[in-house]
Amino acid sequence: MTAQPAKKLLVLPGDGIGPEVMREVTRIITWLEEKRGLSFDITEDLVGGASLAEYGEPIRDEVIEKARAADAVLFGSVGDPRWNHVGFDKRPELAILKLRQELALFANLRPAKVFDALVDASTLKPDVVRGLDIMIVRETVGGIYFGNPRGIETLPDGSKRGINTEVYTTSEIERVARVAFELARKRSGRVCSVEKCNVMESGLLWKEVVTDLHAREYKDVGLSHMLADNCAMQLVRNPRQFDVIVTGNLFGDILSDLASMLTGSLGMLPSATLGAADSHGKLPALYEPIHGSAPDIAGQGIANPIAQILSFAMLLRYSFNMQDEGQLIEDAVSNVLESGLRTADIISDGKTRVSTSVMGDAILGELDKLQK
Ligand code: IPM
Ligand code: MG
Repeated sequence: MTAQPAKKLLVLPGDGIGPEVMREVTRIITWLEEKRGLSFDITEDLVGGASLAEYGEPIRDEVIEKARAADAVLFGSVGDPRWNHVGFDKRPELAILKLRQELALFANLRPAKVFDALVDASTLKPDVVRGLDIMIVRETVGGIYFGNPRGIETLPDGSKRGINTEVYTTSEIERVARVAFELARKRSGRVCSVEKCNVMESGLLWKEVVTDLHAREYKDVGLSHMLADNCAMQLVRNPRQFDVIVTGNLFGDILSDLASMLTGSLGMLPSATLGAADSHGKLPALYEPIHGSAPDIAGQGIANPIAQILSFAMLLRYSFNMQDEGQLIEDAVSNVLESGLRTADIISDGKTRVSTSVMGDAILGELDKLQK
């Protein structure tokens, strides 16, 4: 039997806490290679502010090509206040936006799941969030993030006008809705589609297209519709009413941050951004934590590495179909939380506060125990 070729992984730690939390994933990868006989072909590169400092641009074409060639991309986070003064064509954030667009990664899956050990870390009452498990499917290559016209123009009176345009086409809506319906079939079978059809034409079209697709192909799945503002309110009032939420780029950005806080911390939540598989079945995919680069705590060794680690677990599951290894990592994280260890962002009374690397040590220790 010939050995499976090593899976090609592009690792892009980025800025702020990105490199610190990515380091803990690298240790888990080494563990998987040593203890589970897996092998990964890993390339690392710079993105965001780190790339701006070295190469004068947030992401090089070469890195985009490496991402295209890889079996999966593991992304950290980008954003650095030192580049706040530069234009939109040079900002660190452009790295992730370009990767999403160039690889046509249109479906961003953002799970918000509450670990039992963390029900008390949420700012909401434990009774409201216990057992919560929702999946936000956010469209990521369209909408107001990329629509034209855009820009800042000077008016005849010398004042200025800032412009962005929300645009969605039938096919853009359909392909992301399809991802949501497919996911719902594997979960509890309910999709809530979110837009602002009361004020926006693009929202009206969104609702129509999702409704049509549902009637044509997904009648077995429950479909409801909600206005984005109401959805924000319902997520705080009674989040467990939701299973899969599908929405556009901007609403998805906002609602997924909101949903993540229901789980206690932004530092806990992974995400996967997927494109369409090609004729050889190769699925373009990027995995990243929902949290940003958190420049305020960068370099202190206190960031929570769990979202980055769980993003890697999602990568193993979705891109490499390594369900056992994905489960192993998720179980290790859950056991460490049960044992009472907490990074600063999820600390509560009676728990033990640990650093990024001690959290990493504990997860590795737990992996050893689970492996026996
Ligand atoms: C996210 C981030 C990005 C976004 C930024 C960094 C461009 O907030 O992934 O949610 O707005 O999409
Ligand atoms: Mg965001």
